[in-house]
Amino acid sequence: MNLPKKVELIEVCPRDGFQNVHDIIPFDAKVAIIKKLAEAGFKRVEAVSFVSPKAIPQMADAKDVMLAVKDTLKEHGVRSVALVPNARGVETALECGVDELTYVVSVSEKHNMANVRRTPAESLEQFKGLIGQYGDKMRFRLALATALGCPFGEEIRTERVAEMVQFGLDQGCKEVMIADTVGMSNPKRTYDLMSALVDQFGADKFVMHLHDTRGLALANTLVCMQLGVHKFESAAGGLGGCPFAPGAAGNVATEDVLNMMSEMGVETGINNDVLHEAVELIQANVHANIVSHLTPLYKKAPCV
Ligand code: COA
Ligand code: ZN
Repeated sequence: MNLPKKVELIEVCPRDGFQNVHDIIPFDAKVAIIKKLAEAGFKRVEAVSFVSPKAIPQMADAKDVMLAVKDTLKEHGVRSVALVPNARGVETALECGVDELTYVVSVSEKHNMANVRRTPAESLEQFKGLIGQYGDKMRFRLALATALGCPFGEEIRTERVAEMVQFGLDQGCKEVMIADTVGMSNPKRTYDLMSALVDQFGADKFVMHLHDTRGLALANTLVCMQLGVHKFESAAGGLGGCPFAPGAAGNVATEDVLNMMSEMGVETGINNDVLHEAVELIQANVHANIVSHLTPLYKKAPCV
């Protein structure tokens, strides 16, 4: 089977995972979890989002969290990533010395309206303005939500996704994130979209963000790898979901992706033991179910 020799796993639990947790996670716990993840060998960790606290109350302390973890991330050679929806988010990120930004726009009109209260066209215009104004100070990546399925039943056309990718690259993005926000895709659908995009733009332009709502995220991951895609977002513990996308459940769990990669001999640079320490911290401090396949098995492994 043709697979990349190495892949990058980008950890997003502290942003995508935590944003969907109802009970406010104590500040010290957020910081401790992110610091532990920083030790695990990731090159990038999406640590927070700078969004309206009315939209996502869990992120109200995002600035303090970022300031508290940034030195540790740097010491371990981890680039900090933050999700932003507007200029205010970018400015906060600049104040905190964040390395990289995720600007999210949904392919689906209805999801974009629900998520950021704008049409996708308005979001793209805003993105153009932001990258024009701040692009020399900060690395931006465009994230295309609902690119593999819309929770409101809108058809997602490959040509439209490709136009949006082109738009992002034209603005100077080095990569575009393709998100299955609600975990609606299946391997055939993922193959059909990603083979078209990889043919047009090349595999190294893409980061995949695959939710596991229907248990197909690993199968979708494998399809992307067979197409040469080698950057994947995942969340420790399998936490995650967008509060503005009905039905969205957890991201694919980092420990499950890591296990699949290790079993197939694909390098990730991630230390499994440290990752599990982070999952244990999440389990102890966050009111959310750990939904990975591997963590319960890991805990049952004999201690010798
Ligand atoms: N950081 C902190 N606060 C912010 C903010 C930011 N980046 N952007 C807006 N706010 C505050 C405003 O100051 C305002 O506060 P106030 O009511 O106390 O004055 C409030 O949020 C609403 O601001 P407004 O500009 O009117 O935005 P809106 O209500 O039209 O909402 C967004 C638009 C984009 C700010 C909001 O929908 C949002 O943050 N969405 C993000 C959703 C998300 O994170 N989804 C999951 C990730 S994909
Ligand atoms: Zn997500």
